[in-house]
Amino acid sequence: SHFYQIALLGAGGVGKSDLILRFTQNRFEDCYDPTIEDQYTKNLELDGKAVKLEILDTAGQEEFSHLINVYLEQREAFLLVYSIIDTYSLEYVKKLCQMILEKKRDIPIMIIGNKADLDKNRRVKIEEIQEIAKLFKYCSYIEASAKLNFSVTESFIEIVRLIWKK
Ligand code: GTP
Ligand code: MG
Repeated sequence: SHFYQIALLGAGGVGKSDLILRFTQNRFEDCYDPTIEDQYTKNLELDGKAVKLEILDTAGQEEFSHLINVYLEQREAFLLVYSIIDTYSLEYVKKLCQMILEKKRDIPIMIIGNKADLDKNRRVKIEEIQEIAKLFKYCSYIEASAKLNFSVTESFIEIVRLIWKK
């Protein structure tokens, strides 16, 4: 069967929980409630195959950063999320990429630039992801908006396709 355990990682407030909420329940939460750790499951059908995803929602807050190495051990693919209005969050994703590369460059990675609806406050260009993405064997990147529901489902489908490519 097609059962995959994945995790979302990224700085605090970039929209990891809202991306999962949108994908699993088609909901969006306007008020910010920092995550400690949550797990969701989602069943979908892709290319005629039944896929079950176990999705770990992690804390972006600094005081939980010691857990990242645990997540890197336990999960087989990652969605790395930054916000297009937050340059720190891009640097954080780059740091996560370096940590993952130290383990294996064939771990499937989907990099998501969330909050793309806030284009007028943009601080990060999509091109800034290119270099780091090239270092992985199975990596895609996309801009998305959990709020307006664009490129959310696509991001989760793409991580499954990257796992299948591997
Ligand atoms: P931690 O759990 O602390 O790591 O944060 P998080 O990455 O889970 O962020 P969360 O999903 O809680 O969203 C943080 C804030 O950003 C909330 O106020 C959301 O409403 C807002 N937000 C999330 N996604 C979007 C988006 O696509 N566009 C806009 N404009 N706001 C968003
Ligand atoms: Mg959260």
